[in-house]
Amino acid sequence: METQNPETLYNRLGGARGIEALVDDIIERHMTNPAVKSRFLPIKDDSVHFSEVRKNLIEFLASGTGGPERYTGKDMPAAHRGMNISEGEYMHVIDDIMAAMDKHHMDEQTKKDVLFIAYSLKETMVNL
Ligand code: HEM
Repeated sequence: METQNPETLYNRLGGARGIEALVDDIIERHMTNPAVKSRFLPIKDDSVHFSEVRKNLIEFLASGTGGPERYTGKDMPAAHRGMNISEGEYMHVIDDIMAAMDKHHMDEQTKKDVLFIAYSLKETMVNL
C-alpha cells in the first residue's frame, strides 16, 4: 500500500518562507536558462513590474498548494496570451522548477506533486 504524506504540499514546500526562496531560485534559473531567458530578462528592466510578477508567482504557488495566501494576479491564459509559448519552452520552465526544488532538498514525492500541478496547467499556457 502506498503511504501518503499527511502534510499539505504548502508545508512540504517550506510554507511562506520556503516558497518565497523557491520562487527566487526559479526566477534566477529562468533568467539564465538559454532556452527561455529572452522571455524573462525584459521583466528585470522595470523593478516595479518585476516585484509585482515576483509577488504574483509567490502567491500563485502558495495559494495553489494549500496556503492561506490569496492569488491576486491574472489567470494563466490572461498572463501568457500572445506569447506563443512552445511545448519545449514549457518543459524548460518545468526543468528549472525541478532543479530549484533539488537545490532546496525537496523529496521525490513533493517534486512529483508540483510536477503534476505544473503539467495539468500546460494547456492554459502553451500556444496562446
Ligand atoms: C508551470 C508553468 C507556469 C506557471 C505556473 C506560470 C505562472 C505565472 C504567473 C503566476 C505569472 C504572473 C502573472 C501576473 O503577474 O499577473 C506569470 C507571468 C509570466 N510568465 Fe509564466 N508560468 C508558467 C510558465 C511560463 C512559461 C513556459 C513561460 C515562457 C517561456 C512563461 C512566461 C511568463 C512571463 C514572461 C511572465 C511575465 C508577464 C508580464 O510581464 O506581465 N511562463 N507566470
